[in-house]
Amino acid sequence: MALNYSYKLKSLIAVLGLAQLALAGPTLSVRHTDASPNVNVCTGAVGVGCILVPVSSDSCINFTGGLSFLNKEVSVAVIPDGLACTFFSQFGCLSAPGGFDEVVLTGGTWSFFDVPGANSDVNFNDLSSSFICTPV
Ligand SMILES: *[C@@H]1O[C@H](CO)[C@@H](O)[C@H](O)[C@H]1NC(C)=O
Repeated sequence: MALNYSYKLKSLIAVLGLAQLALAGPTLSVRHTDASPNVNVCTGAVGVGCILVPVSSDSCINFTGGLSFLNKEVSVAVIPDGLACTFFSQFGCLSAPGGFDEVVLTGGTWSFFDVPGANSDVNFNDLSSSFICTPV
């Protein structure tokens, strides 16, 4: 009887251990994704002229150098959940007073023909020169 009980207890512990691993797995991978999220930025539709840009939070990305093909050409962006990315028509993530030259995009797939501007949805197609992301 004592042996049987101990066996059952060990089985229970093993099952709990597996359950814990199963729960821990996704949590760990989400943390990993959050550490170095990518924003997919495209000159056309999703899959057309796209590049995955690794974003570290609160660091401005100019569409210069290797990203200059995106300058004034961005039409679509795919933002990971948990981030808000602001796209600017100026370099350096600078905005004029009123914020009419920027749009703020949260997690999702966005067509820049119709994105949230300072007061209402705006057409920001082929206007972006820089962007910056921050966790939300
Ligand atoms: C982006 O461009 C602006 C204006 O040219 C410059 O001041 C800034 O240092 C650049 N930022 C980065 C991260 O390259």
